[in-house]
Amino acid sequence: MTSLSLPDDAELRRRIRALDLESKVRLLTGDSLWTLPAEPRLGLLPVTMSDGPQGVRGTGADPDATGLLAPAPSALAATWDAQLAERLGDLFATEARRKGVDVLLAPSVNLQRTPVAGRHFEYFSEDPLLTAALAAGLVRGLQARGVGACLKHFVANDSETDRTRYRSRLDERTLREVYLAPFEQVLAEAAPWSVMAAYSGVEDGVDSAPMTEHARLLQGVLKGEWGFAGPVVSDWAATNSTVASAAGGLDLVMPGPDGPWGENLVAAVRAGELDERIIDDKVLRLLRLARHTGRLGLPGQEPASASSEDATAPAPAPREFALLREVAARATVLLRDTAELLPLRLNGIGSIALIGPNAVTPYLQGGGSAFVPAAHTVSFEEGLRAQLPEHVRLTVHRGGDSRRRPPFVPGELLTDPDTGAAGVRADYLDADGNRIGGEVRESGDWTIYDDFGPTTHRVVLHTVLTLSEPGVHRLEFGCAGRFRVTVDGEQLLAGDDDRGVELVLESSHRYPTLQGIDVEVGAQARRITLGIDLTVVEPGGYDRFVTAQLLHAAPGPTPYEEIAEAAAAAAAADVAVVVVGTNEETESEGWDRTGLDLPGYQDELVRKVLAANPRTVVVVNAGAPVLLPWADEVPALLWAWLPGQEAGHALADVLLGRTEPSGRLPWTLPARAEDVPVPDARPHDGIVTYSEGLHIGHRAWDRQGLVPAFPFGHGLGWTEWTYESVTAPQTSVSAGHLTGPAGGDGLQLTVELTNTGPRPGREVVQVYLESPQDGPERPVRLLAGFATVHAAAGARATARVRVPARAFQIWDTAMRAWHTPPGGYRLHVGRSSRDLRLTVDVTSYGDRLHTVV
Ligand code: BGC
Repeated sequence: MTSLSLPDDAELRRRIRALDLESKVRLLTGDSLWTLPAEPRLGLLPVTMSDGPQGVRGTGADPDATGLLAPAPSALAATWDAQLAERLGDLFATEARRKGVDVLLAPSVNLQRTPVAGRHFEYFSEDPLLTAALAAGLVRGLQARGVGACLKHFVANDSETDRTRYRSRLDERTLREVYLAPFEQVLAEAAPWSVMAAYSGVEDGVDSAPMTEHARLLQGVLKGEWGFAGPVVSDWAATNSTVASAAGGLDLVMPGPDGPWGENLVAAVRAGELDERIIDDKVLRLLRLARHTGRLGLPGQEPASASSEDATAPAPAPREFALLREVAARATVLLRDTAELLPLRLNGIGSIALIGPNAVTPYLQGGGSAFVPAAHTVSFEEGLRAQLPEHVRLTVHRGGDSRRRPPFVPGELLTDPDTGAAGVRADYLDADGNRIGGEVRESGDWTIYDDFGPTTHRVVLHTVLTLSEPGVHRLEFGCAGRFRVTVDGEQLLAGDDDRGVELVLESSHRYPTLQGIDVEVGAQARRITLGIDLTVVEPGGYDRFVTAQLLHAAPGPTPYEEIAEAAAAAAAADVAVVVVGTNEETESEGWDRTGLDLPGYQDELVRKVLAANPRTVVVVNAGAPVLLPWADEVPALLWAWLPGQEAGHALADVLLGRTEPSGRLPWTLPARAEDVPVPDARPHDGIVTYSEGLHIGHRAWDRQGLVPAFPFGHGLGWTEWTYESVTAPQTSVSAGHLTGPAGGDGLQLTVELTNTGPRPGREVVQVYLESPQDGPERPVRLLAGFATVHAAAGARATARVRVPARAFQIWDTAMRAWHTPPGGYRLHVGRSSRDLRLTVDVTSYGDRLHTVV
């Protein structure tokens, strides 16, 4: 269908008039976990949604269906390159089409308000402007190919603890200038076709409501003031009311088919509690989304099938892998290189010791709904081996485990107690305790979704674990919901949590209740009989499930022994590359961290390796800040993010000089936990108070005058830059549109710079605005614009940086409008928030700006 033949809104309204109230309301709740209902009378085909933003998870029935895994958004943000984000959006669109997905539940433009936030990796930056620029690029790339974006989570949903219940308390200026800002800017620049309302609520001094019911923000600001014409979709299972949410501006309840709307909403309209025109508007918005995504045909004509996985679509192409690799390599931040170790010069190197828990098991993506099973991944070891010449010997050493939990019991240690067959036997029981089915699996991982049949009420596991290796074995068991674990007939652990959907939303991304025992094995093998009785969890909307994890650590070297072995290997090698980082126990949706230390014994490992070999490169494999107490002692330090499937190739590209690590930190890396401006995100009495106000991230560090380990915007690349000059238009420019999208055009700065280093390079030219401090409170400096340039060694480059008028403005609470306070402003141009090289002064006379020459 070409765009010319698409029905206009008047035609859609006509179609809607043909439906009765029940039929319309039916369309406003999903008909499954991921799809929206079809309505042949409207020509509406089912619209399929799926999670991002690290890729496109897909909705295929096969849980092992796999796809492309991109670097996490905080990595993408480190490129500071909206065009690259657009190319990634285009790739996601191809992948979405392959998987039959019409709307990608991405990007997430909440802000990294605190470094401990569980979804920090999934958000772009601590800065609203950088966040918006990257997110807008991604949305453009996606939607240009007919796949809808869903901008989430609207709004001030920046932490996870108690995430379905808390309200964020922040003043109206902070809400407007910081947390609404990326939503507003992305809407203005890229017009995403849907927006997701968050679980949490907002209390901003004007009113207080959960976001699914927040009439002033959804109806007033988003739809009214900003003119958003698409549907507002609830976060999954976030809607807890009928009239309040429907009247408040929510358009679609997800998932379905159950939920608080349906017949309750029909009854509310019939009772006069809600005007039917409100329902019509919701259906219209849904139809607009369908129209954009090619899911709207002619009434009565097309069969109502969901977009299906496109079997004819070409498999992921080398071009796609290459883009994922380019993003991961370019995002890498060179934090320090005091000994000019990088890129490694291989002619003097005969051996490399690759060390660290994350060298052995890289952490490629954050956990939670963003998780994408990847079809193929490249470990750091594989990537290096693929590029190292034959004469370089590569050895790999874990140097101690960083995980608290042991791995799953290997299937070969388990046997069915009745038949002696290998594995664990599961009996499926109905509500009366009758056996109605079962299965045997050779695995210690017993998380099962709905495969056990609709009448199964309990799943009971039986197995015998045989331990023969002498020494102390550690066994741990993890379950969720209602369960009972017995070891040799004795109860070890039991749970009686009979919540449904809350268990999924609050705990599914988190490891379940764990209990462990140590078992001493001597000359004789030990046989341990295990019984695990699990009641099926019924989380309305989501798949029914049971979970039992049988974990086992065999006797082995202690972490200190492993560290000593790794240090000896480092001493014997020409270069040591230590990869430290987080893991699936650290960074995920569903919970916030309680601290910023690297998990396990990794600090000790780095120190021992450094002492053993001064030619050590440390690579941090993490999406969110972790403290690096040894950072000042390391000659070369790289931040390699959660890099996605091409991790190993990208790291090898950087280490061996194929791609410049041209990333710049999109957040501030603290040196000490006690300096962190917002150290935790725990609600108190249900409220998360944003007491730092406008001073998020680097703004707070500047305000407090504290020195971080590495500042916002920092990244060395591998050349040097001289900033020659900055010029601004000499005539006055209008900067004070009070109503225009994101506040009018602003100024364009022209920055001349020279690559004075030895190699070609990419530079991110950053502009920070200092506002007059004699009026309303302003941040000391804020990021007001940036641009990337590329130049050969010795060459000059010109960066044109747009500073939007909005950067100069404040939200005037009394006037309910944007306003540019008069006075002297200074724009600093530099390499990071703490490396400012040039300035230009600007005077504002209210709504006009004059460059001061
Ligand atoms: C997350 C959303 C996600 C949705 C669907 C929610 O728990 O907050 O980001 O899109 O689940 O998986």
